[in-house]
Amino acid sequence: MCGIIGVVQKRGDVAPFLHQALKRLEYRGYDSVGVTTIADGRLHIKKEKGKIEEVHRKLNLDEMPGSMGIGHTRWATHGIPSMLNSHPHFDCSGKIAVVHNGVIDNFMELRAELREKGHKLQSETDTEVIPHLIEDFMRDGMDLVHAVRETTKRIQGTYAIVAMSTNAEENYLVCTRDGNPLVIGRKKDVSYVSSDIPAFLPMTNDMILLLDGEIASLSADGIKIEKISDESEVHRDSIRISWTADQAQKSGYPHFMLKEIHEQPDAIRNTLRLRSEVIREAAEIINSSERIFMLAMGTSGHAARAGRHMFSSIAGILPVFELASDFSDTVYGALSDKDCIIAITQSGETTDTISAVKYAKEHGAKIIAITNVVGSSITRLADHTILTQAGPEIGVAATKTFMVQLTSLALLALSVGELTGFADSRVIKTKREFLEKLPDIISDTISRNEEPARRLAGQIYDKPSLLFLGRGVSMATAEEGALKLKEIAYNHAEAYSAGESKHGPIALVQNDYPVIFVVPNDETRSRMIGNIMEMKARGALVISVISKDDKELESLSNHIFTIPWDIEPEFSTMAFIIPLQLFSYYMALRKGYDPDKPRNLAKSVTVL
Ligand code: AGP
Repeated sequence: MCGIIGVVQKRGDVAPFLHQALKRLEYRGYDSVGVTTIADGRLHIKKEKGKIEEVHRKLNLDEMPGSMGIGHTRWATHGIPSMLNSHPHFDCSGKIAVVHNGVIDNFMELRAELREKGHKLQSETDTEVIPHLIEDFMRDGMDLVHAVRETTKRIQGTYAIVAMSTNAEENYLVCTRDGNPLVIGRKKDVSYVSSDIPAFLPMTNDMILLLDGEIASLSADGIKIEKISDESEVHRDSIRISWTADQAQKSGYPHFMLKEIHEQPDAIRNTLRLRSEVIREAAEIINSSERIFMLAMGTSGHAARAGRHMFSSIAGILPVFELASDFSDTVYGALSDKDCIIAITQSGETTDTISAVKYAKEHGAKIIAITNVVGSSITRLADHTILTQAGPEIGVAATKTFMVQLTSLALLALSVGELTGFADSRVIKTKREFLEKLPDIISDTISRNEEPARRLAGQIYDKPSLLFLGRGVSMATAEEGALKLKEIAYNHAEAYSAGESKHGPIALVQNDYPVIFVVPNDETRSRMIGNIMEMKARGALVISVISKDDKELESLSNHIFTIPWDIEPEFSTMAFIIPLQLFSYYMALRKGYDPDKPRNLAKSVTVL
């Protein structure tokens, strides 16, 4: 949520780099964009509401002088998307510029206090108090590092901040964080700081994490990190990232989402190669715990819901799934060191999930994290991390990260199953062999369903509302299918248990109302046929996702998507979600929306 970037280099203008880096961060928000550089002892500013390329066409973001600058792409929280509310924000003298990701909770009282002192604040944002506080401290004689340090003692909330000032004798940026991510990159004669790795990935694969409560100053010659509390210097090795810059490009696809759907076979293949000890260690924690909770949000929550079925059928244990945002309001502290949390978050930064994990940790629970981002906040809280191998996911709608979350949960369920002995060893072997075939299965499923998805979208794009029905593990598939459609095509889409559908939602159904049924060839199939008949009797347009050669279901449906392989029942979500991902994508295209940048959303949700 909000992407921030800063760069300082020995020579040459940084503006073209800032522009490109912001494009690589745009998935974090696209309500407005802004860049500020320093040249000839003054700030040069370009900012406006709108997506980066719209703003670039208007303002030419590449033409700005200066070898140091900061940039921001915004997901609005405080104040509408507008030029004035766009970052960077400035002090009264126009010498200090700040970009911020997060929320300053006490901004109202700070604004009142600053106004009282005569500061002129221009925007409605919470952020703007920061440059004015820095201004006051600098007026008292502090340098930028100390002024930012003192400012952090005045603000409450969550933040990642990068600041710069024309007052300094030499070019340097100051950055600090509490609760929101910042990573630092170094190359000869250049230093970078950003919310996320892809921003400077074309320049370097080495990154240094900045942690909560630390402050860093960056110059072209190097970086210095200190603890805010006692000013002691922190020495931290860099981490090498295996992601490549190409992975963060569209590589000929019209959209990241379509590219990432097609990358799913490789993402599974790479995740299946995780070291078996990594999975085994997590399985041992689970096996020695009395209660297991799965916490996540959005798509990661759907992976958790599907994962529950894997654990139940393979390992004989049924974890409790809870939305991370509701966890503390549900358990009321009834946790202990005998409990274990499986926290699933592709970004590793979702504040709802991080807060729930902190809460569980404070109450003694052990934490297993499943995340796609090395060094992300969740990895520092977890006792044990499973790092999924999707590579960077840029599309706001999660696809390949969902797939690798399911893959790691499948590996974990099998490993726990071996420990509990619930499933026969031959069964475990069959399921392991199935997972090895999964990349090919997903590849065939994509090829088979792309054209049907495009065709169906062309036929029903104007239907305002759809129902998605499933039972058992297919409920997770239905929920994820409905979420994808809502997120990028803006249809009203609701997922229900097919069993529950006749207890209310069926009232929505009349002639040609689309109902999507997820019907693998498992023990739910015969009951799903009953539900299809009920909906048909009321005139529903029946769209079914079914197994290959299921002639009976084909004859009952107006439209079908088929899965061309036999699927192990508890893993069915991995294959059955594919047609629904493609359908949402083509619905968004048919309706003229950009599937990579859905309105009001951001890739990483770092507010509560
Ligand atoms: C998925 O398409 C959404 N963008 C959203 O629901 C997402 O899954 C959710 O915000 C959780 O994100 P996380 O996996 O990074 O924690």
